[in-house]
Amino acid sequence: MASAASSLASQFSGLRREAAKPSFSTAHLFHAVQSQLRLPSTRRPIRSVVAMAGTGKFFVGGNWKCACNHDDYYFGIYNDFCLKPVQILQNGTKDSIRKLVADLNDSKLENDVDVIVSPPYVYIDVVKQSLTERIEISAQNSWVGKGGAFTGEISVEQLKDIGCKWVILGHSERRHIIGEDDQFIGKKAAYALSQNLKVIACIGEKLEEREAGKTFDVCFEQMKSFADSISNWKDVVIAYEPVWAIGTGKVATPEQAQEVHVAVRDWLKKNVSPEVASSTRIIYGGSVNGGNCSELAKQEDIDGFLVGGASLKGPEFATIVNSVTAKKVTA
Ligand code: PGA
Repeated sequence: MASAASSLASQFSGLRREAAKPSFSTAHLFHAVQSQLRLPSTRRPIRSVVAMAGTGKFFVGGNWKCACNHDDYYFGIYNDFCLKPVQILQNGTKDSIRKLVADLNDSKLENDVDVIVSPPYVYIDVVKQSLTERIEISAQNSWVGKGGAFTGEISVEQLKDIGCKWVILGHSERRHIIGEDDQFIGKKAAYALSQNLKVIACIGEKLEEREAGKTFDVCFEQMKSFADSISNWKDVVIAYEPVWAIGTGKVATPEQAQEVHVAVRDWLKKNVSPEVASSTRIIYGGSVNGGNCSELAKQEDIDGFLVGGASLKGPEFATIVNSVTAKKVTA
């Protein structure tokens, strides 16, 4: 798919496919007319096109998780899951949210990108009221059905009421720490979509699964649960997030990510439809930062990112959003 996409790169304009190039005979006719008229040059002006395997727009989401600043974030991960010793601890506060929002409001973001941030529930309203409308708001989770007597849960209806457009579902922290299973996550996705809340559907393998050669099996199984529940893929973005790369600083190589993205697109083609395979964004998540985003973005099947730790720093998040420029090639 990647090589097919390379050869098709010149058919992309901005982030969407444009109409097919003129056929040989039409181009030939133009050329003949122009030489008859002795026009000075037949060269087209140089322009930027985006080499993407799919037809969707580049997409970058910031997942703020249960933290309000960068140091909290790594405290949570390292302390609770013993990946690294705790070095710094600061409390996340409304002040740190305000600073992050102010930095995002000051950032210059490329136009050709859908940008989303996902604050902790309790801050969604304040973020919604103060953040530029250029950036949409996502929740990090939602209840599986209509709201009711479910202590501690937040319903899709409530999320929509406070202005959320998106929800992240199937994140590995909910799968492996909270214990949500594939079917439950699939049902959540179906319910959110039925209420017009768009879904960032996460999949990804654990380290031992990768080492056992089961990466595709695990991802396809998780894809199947989504596909069994989803009938309309228009409002779905898939986030491939290898568990071993999340919050660890150990990012997948561009080739590792590209390989899985191609496989997932191919799975969609065979199991859903070629149209859905082409139009559904497949974004990568797991230790994406301002330094590694451009190399990852150059991969043709990487349609954007879901960013945790680095999304808590406004300028760095803006750099990641703007890595769409790495996809642009001259034609
Ligand atoms: P990370 O988290 O960027 O900190 O690895 C990504 C995610 O969990 O979505």
